[in-house]
Amino acid sequence: MEMAKIRLGNVDAITTNDPDTIREILFRQDDVFSSRPKTLAAVHLAYGCGDVALAPMGPHWKRMRRICMEHLLTTKRLESFTAQRAEESCYLIADVYKRAECGKLVNLREVLGAFSMNNVTRMLLGKQFFGPGSVVGPKEAQEFMHITHKLFRLLGVIYLGDYLPFWRWVDPYGCEKEMKDVEKRVDKFHTKIMDEHRRAKREREDNTKNNNGEMDFVDVLLSLPGENGKEHMDDVEIKALIQDMIAAATDTSAVTNEWAMAEVIKQPRVMRKIQEELDSIVGSKRMVDESDLVHLNYLRCVVRETFRMHPVGPFLIPHEFVRPTTVNGYYIPAKTRVFINTHGLGRNTKIWDDTDEFRPERHWPVDGSGRVEISHGADYKILPFSAGKRKCPGAPLGVTMVLMALARLFHCFDWTSPENIDTLEVYGMTMPKAKPLWALAKPRSHSTVG
Ligand code: HEM
Repeated sequence: MEMAKIRLGNVDAITTNDPDTIREILFRQDDVFSSRPKTLAAVHLAYGCGDVALAPMGPHWKRMRRICMEHLLTTKRLESFTAQRAEESCYLIADVYKRAECGKLVNLREVLGAFSMNNVTRMLLGKQFFGPGSVVGPKEAQEFMHITHKLFRLLGVIYLGDYLPFWRWVDPYGCEKEMKDVEKRVDKFHTKIMDEHRRAKREREDNTKNNNGEMDFVDVLLSLPGENGKEHMDDVEIKALIQDMIAAATDTSAVTNEWAMAEVIKQPRVMRKIQEELDSIVGSKRMVDESDLVHLNYLRCVVRETFRMHPVGPFLIPHEFVRPTTVNGYYIPAKTRVFINTHGLGRNTKIWDDTDEFRPERHWPVDGSGRVEISHGADYKILPFSAGKRKCPGAPLGVTMVLMALARLFHCFDWTSPENIDTLEVYGMTMPKAKPLWALAKPRSHSTVG
């Protein structure tokens, strides 16, 4: 299929899994195509499209995106959290070790979920929700996890009310009602976070110790000027940005890690190659460090292959054409929605052979040298972080969190599964494994943990 036109109720849409058509849309016609549809989920769950990820193309999106790129996701800012990320990797290994020591199966969904949630919340909110360093009670942590999952599920729902207006009057499954309920609960959570930060800011007003390097994202946003000469950004803008980052950063890396672990545990040959590479580059006397990650080319191929088979955003986030255009000779009216089928792209037999086989070697550089890139290349054969104006601004952080967790888990443990691992997936905003992955970890002989 090069491109299919579909009609969803009142809305025109196109979908494609063809790399040339994708290049045409995301590269050559990026300007025309980089808006977002105003869905009910975006209205209720992203502060009336007041965020960055679901905002239509326009001055608001440009400003919010610039804030992300210039103040939040800069190399310098991300580097200032290196020590925190290293600490979280140690907690992850200690957590697995505790279970491995008494021969218990490890629920990888749980430990990987806590790893990415902690990394993200520490960086964004200055708070650790799970594990030994947790600063909140179990009730608050549970409410936070629960509400984040609900938010994610609702963002991924294809809600018929977006396509058939009469559906909204009936709302037979109470979807819109649930969105409004989640909207209130999430807002309550953000209000509390902002109050805590404002209070802490007042308390340290005379204390200059807290320099830029130690500021979390909420601190940074509270320190920025607002639009049109206002002294501060609006609360709603800050809440919308923070909510975007939580949603965009947590599930994405945890889901990728769970798939990578599942595929590798199914193939002991691949695990041995990962461990050989780790042993030769990191050795047995120390733990993996972030500076090692660029040298782990085989592991990078594993992550690329995971993205080919299990892309996190199976249809990216829907894009919308801002004005009429022509793609592949077909007239496309303005407001047409675009679903880029990255799941189909990774299984497109025109560009990949043996599509159901997890084979990291297919990404090994032909001349055997150079760093294996994890985002897309000029051929648009995989697209984990998309491309063009709407491409993921958190890709470097996402790649680091994914590689770091995998590198440490395979460096420290051998992994087996007592039963056949199935690869059934669930459709949504992300595409997780249907059943959580359970596996047995055995500390490797040189393991420095414990
Ligand atoms: C493995 C990890 C990640 C993956 C696979 C991933 C993937 C994606 C994808 C596919 C999109 C949609 C692009 C499009 O619609 O064309 C996206 C958007 C976005 N991502 Fe990520 N992401 C990851 C991690 C992160 C992190 C860590 C952050 C921030 C802390 C982040 C922030 C965002 C934002 C703000 C957008 C919306 C961009 C816009 O609409 O302008 N992501 N991501």
